[in-house]
Amino acid sequence: MGYVVAIANHKGGVGKTTSAINLGTLLALTGRKTLILDLDLQGNATSGLGVRKEDQAGLAGMLLEDKAPIDACSPVYCEDLFVLPLGKHAATIEDEIRKNPLLMEKLEGVLDRIAAAWDFIILDCPPTFGLIPNAAIRQATYTCIPVQCEFFSVEGLTAMLKRIQELQTAGARSPRVGILLTMYTQGDDSSDQVRKAVEQNFGSLLLTPIIPRDPILSHAPRIGIPAVLQAPESRGARAYLELAWEVIKHERQEAG
Ligand SMILES: Nc1ncnc2c1ncn2[C@@H]1O[C@H](COP(=O)(O)OP(=O)(O)OP(=O)(O)O)[C@@H](O)[C@H]1O
Ligand SMILES: [Mg+2]
Repeated sequence: MGYVVAIANHKGGVGKTTSAINLGTLLALTGRKTLILDLDLQGNATSGLGVRKEDQAGLAGMLLEDKAPIDACSPVYCEDLFVLPLGKHAATIEDEIRKNPLLMEKLEGVLDRIAAAWDFIILDCPPTFGLIPNAAIRQATYTCIPVQCEFFSVEGLTAMLKRIQELQTAGARSPRVGILLTMYTQGDDSSDQVRKAVEQNFGSLLLTPIIPRDPILSHAPRIGIPAVLQAPESRGARAYLELAWEVIKHERQEAG
């Protein structure tokens, strides 16, 4: 079974999609067949990889149109990197599931087939907890919680960690959670305060890599090429490389 990494935080704009795109790309470059599963209606991970989401049957299409996983998504940039958006039925799919509970069973089956078909599945979660992201997070062995280095970022973190851990234990074998500091600015008071607060309150969960604020990471989606491909020597890309190794280390431990 593939190794499922959820990138989740119900706070918006904290770097979930940026992390999903760059981590997923780096894992694929190591020759591991990697799927970025874009669970957000906004479809930012899909468009950030230069793929048009409106044309895709996507995950919702697999439920409503019985598409096979591999037919419903596209390889991007290298033969091992794929992205699957929610697709053209994204806006209504959760209502359909509520109306027809059999679709939830079908979704679970589809997620199992996805987990069997890829080595790594990166879940780019929306800034909300919906039926589809919840079902996907249940499969995650590793949940990475990006926390932006800004005032207010730590508020609500305890509640969200609890929520994610509850979802994970329902499905995964030995789930692990890591907090990833993002948009860190060296020498900036807010950045240092958030870093200290996370170290003091959640020290054991804090991941070693810290993602700096780096304009290359914010400019990359405009041209649809991941920053780690555009500027592999940039500070942002190197920090994501460190994260990719952390994830690979955990996956190897899990595999025994
Ligand atoms: N390390 C970084 N340095 C500079 N800009 C960044 C960095 N990480 C993310 N950004 C920018 O911050 C904004 C929010 O990032 P992103 O879309 O990844 O967050 P998100 O958590 O996925 O948001 P949402 O909750 O809306 O899905 C984007 O404009 C992105 O380009
Ligand atoms: Mg996002």
